[in-house]
Formats: sequence, C-alpha cells, structure tokens
Amino acid sequence: MFSTLLPAWASLIITLLLCTTAFAANNATCSSNATRLRLSDPPYENYFYSDCHSSSHVVVTSPLSSSNLSIIGPRLLVAWPAGNSGIVSFFKPDNGENGTLGIRLENSTATKEALEPVYDFNQTQSKSPRVGVSGVISFNSSAISTVTILGSIRTIRDFTEGPSIIYPSVQKAIKISEIADGGASFERTWFDNVTTTYLSFAPVNGSDAITINRGDNVTLSFGAGTYQFNASFDYPQLEQLSPQEVLSNVSTGLIEQNPDQSTSLSFLSYTDKLLAGTWRFLTYFGRDSMISLLLLQPILSEGEGGAIEAVIGAVLERINRTDGSVCHEENIGDYATFLNLQNNITSTAPQCDYKMVDTDYFLPIIMRNYFVETETGLNRSSAFFNKTASFLANNTDLTYGELAQITAVKIMNTSAPFASEGGQRKENLIHLKEGQVVGQWRDSEFGIGGGRIPYDVNTALVPAALRSIAALSRSGFFPDHPEWNKTAEEYADVWEDETLRFFEVNVPQSTAKSLVESYINESSSYSGPPNTEEIIDDVTFYGIALDGNNNQSIVRVINTDDCFRHFLLNTTNQTQLSSFLNQTADHILKPFPVGLSTSLGLFVANPAFGGDPIYAKNFTNADYHGTVVWSWQLAMMAAGLSHQLGRCEATDVPDFCNDRSFYMKVLSAYNHLWSLIDNNSAQLSGEVWSWIYNDGFQVEPLGAFTPTESDIRQLWSLTFLAVHRENFKI
Ligand SMILES: *[C@@H]1O[C@H](CO)[C@@H](O)[C@H](O)[C@H]1NC(C)=O
Ligand SMILES: *[C@@H]1O[C@H](CO)[C@@H](O)[C@H](O)[C@H]1NC(C)=O
Ligand SMILES: *[C@@H]1O[C@H](CO)[C@@H](O)[C@H](O)[C@H]1NC(C)=O
Ligand SMILES: *[C@@H]1O[C@H](CO)[C@@H](O)[C@H](O)[C@H]1NC(C)=O
Ligand SMILES: *[C@@H]1O[C@H](CO)[C@@H](O)[C@H](O)[C@H]1NC(C)=O
Ligand SMILES: *[C@@H]1O[C@H](CO)[C@@H](O)[C@H](O)[C@H]1NC(C)=O
Ligand SMILES: *[C@@H]1O[C@H](CO)[C@@H](O)[C@H](O)[C@H]1NC(C)=O
Ligand SMILES: *[C@@H]1O[C@H](CO)[C@@H](O)[C@H](O)[C@H]1NC(C)=O
Ligand SMILES: *[C@@H]1O[C@H](CO)[C@@H](O)[C@H](O)[C@H]1NC(C)=O
Ligand SMILES: *[C@@H]1O[C@H](CO)[C@@H](O)[C@H](O)[C@H]1NC(C)=O
Ligand SMILES: *[C@@H]1O[C@H](CO)[C@@H](O)[C@H](O)[C@H]1NC(C)=O
Ligand SMILES: *[C@@H]1O[C@H](CO)[C@@H](O)[C@H](O)[C@H]1NC(C)=O
Repeated sequence: MFSTLLPAWASLIITLLLCTTAFAANNATCSSNATRLRLSDPPYENYFYSDCHSSSHVVVTSPLSSSNLSIIGPRLLVAWPAGNSGIVSFFKPDNGENGTLGIRLENSTATKEALEPVYDFNQTQSKSPRVGVSGVISFNSSAISTVTILGSIRTIRDFTEGPSIIYPSVQKAIKISEIADGGASFERTWFDNVTTTYLSFAPVNGSDAITINRGDNVTLSFGAGTYQFNASFDYPQLEQLSPQEVLSNVSTGLIEQNPDQSTSLSFLSYTDKLLAGTWRFLTYFGRDSMISLLLLQPILSEGEGGAIEAVIGAVLERINRTDGSVCHEENIGDYATFLNLQNNITSTAPQCDYKMVDTDYFLPIIMRNYFVETETGLNRSSAFFNKTASFLANNTDLTYGELAQITAVKIMNTSAPFASEGGQRKENLIHLKEGQVVGQWRDSEFGIGGGRIPYDVNTALVPAALRSIAALSRSGFFPDHPEWNKTAEEYADVWEDETLRFFEVNVPQSTAKSLVESYINESSSYSGPPNTEEIIDDVTFYGIALDGNNNQSIVRVINTDDCFRHFLLNTTNQTQLSSFLNQTADHILKPFPVGLSTSLGLFVANPAFGGDPIYAKNFTNADYHGTVVWSWQLAMMAAGLSHQLGRCEATDVPDFCNDRSFYMKVLSAYNHLWSLIDNNSAQLSGEVWSWIYNDGFQVEPLGAFTPTESDIRQLWSLTFLAVHRENFKI
C-alpha cells in the first residue's frame, strides 16, 4: 500500500547511492494521481494540491465590496506542511483606491486546473528536490507588489497577526532579479544556509513586462492582465497519507461520500504526524491531534504507517524528558533556526512549547484506546514502544516506551497529593503553570476568565488518564511500576468522585432571573429575548475554572466542557452521575442566555449567571472562547452523550437509565443537539463560528470581529466524519 510513496529521505538515499540524474528524472512523474480541492470562502479562495512529491495550500485573497479594507487586501499566500513553510505576497492598486484591485487564479486552458506541480531535482544544486506549485494570477488593473515574505509560516503570521512585524534579517536575505521575458523572481536562502524559497512571476498572454522598482523597499509593478507564478522550495518533504491511507479499509467509502472532508483530512495527515489546520497551524499541535484521534479513531488507519500510530508517535517523540510534559506546539524549519539564532545558538534543531497542562493527560488515553483496546494495537505494541526517538536531539537515547513512562510518572506524581487521605483540597488540584495565563483548550487571554484551576483538566482529564494508566499497567506497560495497576485505579476513584464539587454553582431561581436580565443590559452583542420563563427551578452548573479575575473563586460561566466527562469516563457514583447528566441536559435543552442552545449550535460559554459585568465583557461573540460555537465541542458533546446513553444498553446499567422520564430527558437533549448539528452542516468543517443578532441568530465568521483569520480547515473540525447520531431505544 505504501510502496509507491517512498519517504523523501528514502528516495534521497537511493538517488545518492545510484547518483544518476536519469533516476531522479524518472521520479518526476508520480505513479498515483494528484489530489486537488478548491474551497471558496470569500474574500478567500483556497486551492489544495498534493501529489507524491509535495503538498501545497494556496490562498488568494481579493477584497469584496463589503470587506474592511484596513484588514483585507489583495494577497497571494502559499503554505507548505514541510518545515511549516510558506510564501506571502501582498499587492495594492497601482493607481486607485484600496478595494479597486481584484486578483484571482485562472484555470489552465490545457488542464482546466488552477494549480500545477513544480518538481525539479538538480543534485548539484540541492540535496532535496525543489517542489511547489505554479499557476496563473490575474490582476484586473495595474498592481504593485508591496511586501513579500519567504520562509516560515510563523514569520508570515508574525506579520499578518502581530503588529505587522517584519524581521530585517529575513527581508534583507531576499534577492530580487529580472528573469527572461519580462519576469521577476524572488529568492531567499534560509537561516540554515541550505534551503532556498523561490517565487517568480512572468507575463503571459501579452501582459506588460514587470518593472522592478529598487528603493528602500523593492517593489514590483505589474500591468493589468495575467502572470504565471512559480512558488517552490528545496526542503525535505513529509510523506502524506492519501485519503485511502489515512482511513481504515472499512471507511474508504467516506472518500466518495465526503470528498471535501476526506481530502482535507489527508492534506493534514503525514506518516510521522497529523497537522492541526491550514494555513495558519500547518504543523504539530499535541492537543489538536490527540482530541482528533479520540473522536476519529473508528475511521482511521491502524498499524505501522497508519494515522493512529502517526499521532501517538509524534506525541511521544516530543516529550520533555526532564519532567514528562507533552509538547503543545513545535517550532520547526526556518523559524526554529531563527529562534536558535536569537539565543545565539547556531542550530536548525526544532523546539517545543510545553506551556499547556491538559495535553499530558490525553496521551495515556489514546495509548490505551489503541494499544489495549484494539487487536492491531495489541499486536503492534512491543515493536512500536521499542522504537527509539529521533525528532528531538535530547530524546535520541530513549525508546517510545521509556518516554511514555516519563509522562505517566508525571501524571501519577502530580495526582497523588489530591488522592491521598484527607488530600481533597483545592490546592492539590491541577493548576496552570506558573507565569502562564493559558493551559487548556480555551487558550486565549480570557478563555477561562483568568482562572488558575481548569474544570476540564481536573474533573475529566486527570481521572481518565489515571484509568488509562491502570489499564495500560494491567497490559504490561510501565514495567518499572507494576503497582500502578492498583494505585492508578485508586487515584482515579478519588479524582472522579471528589472533584466536581469544587466547581459546582447553584443559583436560586429568583436570583437566576435577575442575573440573566443584568447580563442582557451588560452585553453589547446580544439583543435577543432573556428567555427567563425557561428558568423554572434553581440553576446548577459547573464553573469553567477556579480563582478567576475580579476575585471570582469560581468562574461562573456555563460551558460545554461537561463533554469531556461524558465522553471519557464511566463514573459510578450514581447520585453524582445523575445530577451531572441532568444539568448538562438542561443546558443543552434551554435557549441562550438561560442555557447554551441557539439555532447556530451550542455556545461554548454562557456568562449570563456570572453576576459581575466582567463576564459580559470577557465572553462576547468576538472572543475566540466566548459566546461562539466550536465544531469539535459539538462532536465531543454528541459522542459523550452517546457514550452515557450507550451504558444503558450494556450490562452494568447506571441508575439514570432506569428512571424513564429522566432517561427520556437525556435522550431528548441528545436529539436536540443533533438537530442543531444537522442544521449547521455548512459550518461544521470550520473551526469556530460567531453570529450577529437580528431578530434571531445569523452566522458571522469570527474573523469579521477580530483581525485573526480562521483556518479554512482544522483537523479537529473533521471529526463528524466519524461521529454520527445513534438510535437509542425509547
Ligand atoms: C521513483 O522511481 C522509482 C523507479 O522508477 C519508483 O519505483 C518509485 O516509486 C519512484 N518514487 C516516487 C516518489 O515517485
Ligand atoms: C487517475 O486518474 C485517471 C483519470 O481521471 C483515472 O482514469 C485513473 O484511474 C486514476 N488512477 C488512479 C490510480 O486512481
Ligand atoms: C489600504 O491598504 C493598506 C494595505 O492593505 C492598509 O495598510 C491601509 O490601511 C489601507 N487604507 C485604507 C484607507 O483602508
Ligand atoms: C476554474 O474552474 C472552476 C471549476 O471548473 C470554476 O469554478 C472556476 O470559476 C474557474 N475559474 C476561473 C477563474 O474561471
Ligand atoms: C544544476 O545546477 C548547477 C549548479 O547550479 C548548474 O550548473 C547546472 O546547469 C544545473 N543543471 C541543470 C540540468 O539545470
Ligand atoms: C550560515 O552562514 C552564516 C555566515 O557564514 C553563519 O554565520 C551561520 O552560523 C550559518 N548558519 C548555520 C545555521 O549554519
Ligand atoms: C519599508 O518597509 C518598512 C517595513 O515595512 C517600513 O517600515 C518602511 O517605512 C518602508 N520604507 C519605505 C520607503 O516605504
Ligand atoms: C523541560 O522541563 C524542565 C523541567 O520542568 C524545564 O526546566 C525545561 O525548561 C523544559 N524544557 C523546555 C524546552 O521547555
Ligand atoms: C546574543 O549575543 C549578543 C551579542 O553578543 C548579546 O547582546 C545578546 O544578549 C545575546 N542573546 C542571548 C539571548 O543570549
Ligand atoms: C524489543 O526490544 C527488546 C530488547 O532490545 C527485544 O528483546 C525485543 O525482541 C524487541 N521486540 C520487538 C517486537 O522488536
Ligand atoms: C535538553 O536537555 C537539557 C538537560 O536536561 C536541557 O538543559 C535542555 O534545555 C534540553 N534541550 C531542549 C531543546 O529541550
Ligand atoms: C497488579 O500486578 C501485580 C503484579 O503483577 C499482581 O500481583 C496484582 O494482582 C495486580 N493487581 C491488580 C489489582 O490487578
């Protein structure tokens, strides 16, 4: 299955051994067809191209009449997974106001496609083939290219998202030259002194020759018309998993049923890691890939070279061996060398960011789900954990098994104080790291309202990780700690049963109504009805964190993070399980701002019961983790309720299953959630969406309120490929 897709390093070694250019030329043609996808998201047009040599995502931005022209300007962007690399070129009208220049890609008259591959392997020049894409860009009026950045996506993001940060050391290294037939080219050799990124433009169909204007900042002048562009670089490529390879054999039908989502999943999947999203997060992110695996596992390929092992291997490779922390985000490619230089280190070595606290706990859970719960995983376990790490220089003397154990030791040690006799105190809960304002998935400044002790981590992730460590221990993992088969279960019992109460908020019915009314006055975005007639009882929920801003001991925000407990745990304290399920069902069934339900899906946060104006201020429809909808949270809530309802059909039936009206309430919450999901199918493959209120909620991209562009495709927003509505007995 993988024979046609030799990894880049393998073809490099073979080529060097044979040392013939003829062999390299043979490899210019791929034996499998290229994969293409076009996604329109005005003012952005997205084009994906992948073949056996490389993968590219091209985004062409052309302002609409409704665009905010101080944020949206004409732009050509190319993003490559290998090295998290890319190119961006900004344009402006040569004469005329902002908004008058429109740009687009033309389809080739020969192939009818917008993009064609670039592949050129001159071994005298470079150790890796030069790969990328070419196409034809057209300008509706004469244009000037202003800023062009070549190298890392991170450098591009620092410019587009930061206060237009330009690094002189990056820009100074760009060489701009005239090329044949009135064209012009940019090239920049990376900080590694080895890799070069190229971008060239040349007039076609009689368009004007390009003029290079050499001044302080070099610009190019284009006439109205069409120009061929070539974007390429010579960096070692990743080996992409084709749609057939990323999906399990029984799931390949999805390629025809959901061509967009399966092509997107393939674009983000490589033999040694899955990437979080494109174009902005086109590299390893620990939480994103592990949550995606948890939800997608039933459809992903198993075994060596498959998607599941790619995720688990990538996580193990990047562990901090000193303290067992799991890597949140990697810095690779040109940006890694750049950061090393800032520290006066001459090295291309990648770095990892370990600031999150939730990420560690997902690791034992995904290990158990595959290596204990599946046949393939059981058989693969010893070979897989025998592998020696190779990604971080610091880890190259450790096996995957040893690395996994280092993280498990960290989890056991940090969960022990709370589990100890009389240790069930707030100070023994898991806190954010010192000096960090974020630590779990709501990782924006006010994502958990300034809280220090996150709800999801303490009530769900820690106990689920402990259960998994115990199960792994029973399967022979962690040979240095055979006692974990018992101690991890004991710790898990305490963490499961004793943590919820720290986060519990009870609001008497009368207070609840007045809190919602004050919220409506304080909220600048929501102008709809208070829906307070839906408050027919006291309101109970679990706050999003402890120790928040403005001396809030509990951050009183109703939230969707209940989904982690429902999805990951089989709790057995029946009273607690019943009341927990009951309040989740209420929040799903009740309309915002009483509950979380809106026509656009469940809001991930509802600050209406906060009782302090700080809540309405920090949780708005313009906040990444505010009153907005996230696709994967809908998926995990659906999967979580499905998991709990499924327990009613197993042997050890929880009490709630036997209380018919209560069971029906949970089931109706589940079905209500699914109707919201089905009604928002147009949004589900996006990461997050916001709204405006105009006699009802209307979808509005979050990017309309913040300068941060969203990713057209995000790995964890493809989880509805695997999460479906189940039919439970009535
Ligand atoms: C390179 O060429 C060889 C021999 O023709 C072939 O077996 C191999 O699959 C090719 N590799 C790629 C990446 O196309
Ligand atoms: C490649 O595409 C052509 C034309 O669409 C088709 O006939 C052929 O079967 C495809 N090959 C593979 C290996 O999918
Ligand atoms: C015109 O576009 C440039 C670049 O996109 C931007 O910096 C500037 O603010 C815009 N001017 C106006 C008046 O919108
Ligand atoms: C290119 O082809 C696609 C699909 O056939 C079409 O939707 C698109 O409008 C074409 N682009 C241009 C610029 O003509
Ligand atoms: C390969 O690169 C070398 C060095 O830049 C150059 O002299 C040579 O002409 C190139 N070969 C081809 C076939 O382009
Ligand atoms: C690249 O070359 C420059 C100039 O010779 C040198 O100072 C620098 O250390 C080299 N960088 C790397 C990563 O080798
Ligand atoms: C050149 O570009 C830099 C960085 O964008 C900017 O600060 C400077 O004003 C520009 N100079 C001219 C002459 O446009
Ligand atoms: C790894 O963990 C140790 C101990 O907490 C810490 O000192 C070190 O900075 C971490 N490494 C990185 C690269 O963050
Ligand atoms: C790197 O070296 C320069 C020049 O010696 C020095 O000014 C700077 O503080 C050093 N940076 C770091 C992070 O050590
Ligand atoms: C794992 O490594 C051990 C020690 O090197 C060896 O005995 C064992 O055969 C290896 N197992 C597999 C499946 O490769
Ligand atoms: C490698 O490990 C050493 C010693 O534990 C530590 O000082 C250093 O920061 C680590 N390097 C990286 C890149 O994590
Ligand atoms: C845990 O493992 C030990 C050693 O293998 C075994 O003796 C013990 O019975 C196990 N305990 C449980 C609870 O499985």
